[in-house]
Amino acid sequence: MYLFRVCILIALFSPFVSTRAVPRAFPGLNTTLLRLVHDNAVNSSTESWEIGTLAEALTEAKWPRLSVFQSGSLPPPVILPWWENAHDVLAIAETVVSQKDNGSLPLTDGGGAVGDPASLGQAVLLRNWTRRDLTDTQYSTAAGGQLGYLLGVAPRAASGAISQRDDQVQLWADFVYMAPPFIAYFGALENIQALLQIAFDQIRLYRDALFDADVSLWRHVTMGSWEDSGHWATGNGWAAAGTMRVLATIKYSSFGSVMQSQQDDLAQWVDEILTGVWYYQQRNGTLLNYVDQPDSFADSASTALLAATTLRYSLLTSDTKHDAAALLALELIWNSIDEDGWLLNTVDPEAWTMPSSNGSHSPEGQSFVLLLAAAWAVY
Ligand SMILES: *[C@@H]1O[C@H](CO)[C@@H](O)[C@H](O)[C@H]1NC(C)=O
Ligand SMILES: *[C@@H]1O[C@H](CO)[C@@H](O)[C@H](O)[C@H]1NC(C)=O
Ligand SMILES: *[C@@H]1O[C@H](CO)[C@@H](O)[C@H](O)[C@H]1NC(C)=O
Ligand SMILES: *[C@@H]1O[C@H](CO)[C@@H](O)[C@H](O)[C@H]1NC(C)=O
Ligand SMILES: *[C@@H]1O[C@H](CO)[C@@H](O)[C@H](O)[C@H]1NC(C)=O
Ligand SMILES: *[C@@H]1O[C@H](CO)[C@@H](O)[C@H](O)[C@H]1NC(C)=O
Repeated sequence: MYLFRVCILIALFSPFVSTRAVPRAFPGLNTTLLRLVHDNAVNSSTESWEIGTLAEALTEAKWPRLSVFQSGSLPPPVILPWWENAHDVLAIAETVVSQKDNGSLPLTDGGGAVGDPASLGQAVLLRNWTRRDLTDTQYSTAAGGQLGYLLGVAPRAASGAISQRDDQVQLWADFVYMAPPFIAYFGALENIQALLQIAFDQIRLYRDALFDADVSLWRHVTMGSWEDSGHWATGNGWAAAGTMRVLATIKYSSFGSVMQSQQDDLAQWVDEILTGVWYYQQRNGTLLNYVDQPDSFADSASTALLAATTLRYSLLTSDTKHDAAALLALELIWNSIDEDGWLLNTVDPEAWTMPSSNGSHSPEGQSFVLLLAAAWAVY
């Protein structure tokens, strides 16, 4: 099954292979449809975090050997072969850096969000690492500026947690997917253990601030001028998925063997979120937008992200206790994609207490489906 699925993913995305020859990929989701999902993800992502998430989804789905979930991916090759050139991921880095304001440390304007621009950082680091012109330092400088901003400029809570907002100290679960994976990847490429430790510590501090042990779920936003103490499904997805990426980055870095206790903690913190969210899973496989509020609406986007994270968790730890829930969710997701390749029944990512209004879709939800397809392909 493994090879079969990998072939399908390759065939799906490769311009060199005809999709006509490919059998149906998954019940309810054929390769033609998955390509539409992909095109819609690319076409609809405009905000910094959406494009950063898209870059990660493209890496995992189309160039899996460059993804942190692949043993041997750290560091990546300095010369990418033509069949694995990550052209779309590198193009994102090129656009970001070419449009970057020279006076700014963050990679782009995050609209007041500290973490979001950093989600683009992994693509920029890959672009630097694989550049042909070794005298070209613009990508290295841009990535260094983004790191410097996170570590030295952004406001912090008394605990040391880096704020998700630039005008006040406020911690959002979303931050965990945006910044720590970039900090960890930077550390893995540059062989700086302290950066891997910082990525770990930031997740630890965020968990201290946001985890509710009684329901085993994360709250969404704490501190600052307002809070969202509800257990937002996508927030739990950002936290679990970002933690998984840092766990894999540490594991496959050159510090994997000397940072075992950190990996054990990270795995436990993913496990507890998965325990919390799937406990509240609905009969048909979906999660509700506020996981434990029965009157909340069904949200397929967070369901896809948490299913993808569950498959990654299972593959990396061999702990399979959440698999059945993820597979039920996967079936729901495949059945929630319309004939134009849009994921239906999503939360509005910019007004997260409401479903997407008629005719509008979730760009991040499109990327979450790609993350799920990528995890499923190796599961
Ligand atoms: C994506 O956008 C391009 C150009 O704007 C368009 O040609 C293409 O049809 C779009 N793809 C989808 C799937 O909407
Ligand atoms: C940044 O500086 C470079 C070189 O000085 C210049 O070519 C580029 O146009 C500048 N970019 C912006 C967005 O100002
Ligand atoms: C950019 O790549 C070079 C190797 O070509 C490496 O020495 C440098 O540290 C990289 N910069 C960053 C920020 O990763
Ligand atoms: C799944 O179940 C929930 C209620 O538990 C419902 O709101 C939602 O519409 C259902 N989704 C689908 C796709 O049937
Ligand atoms: C793929 O699925 C779509 C939507 O269900 C359908 O219209 C299309 O005919 C299917 N294509 C193939 C090759 O099965
Ligand atoms: C959205 O579409 C559904 C079904 O087509 C309809 O029942 C509902 O009233 C629409 N909602 C809005 C806000 O237009």
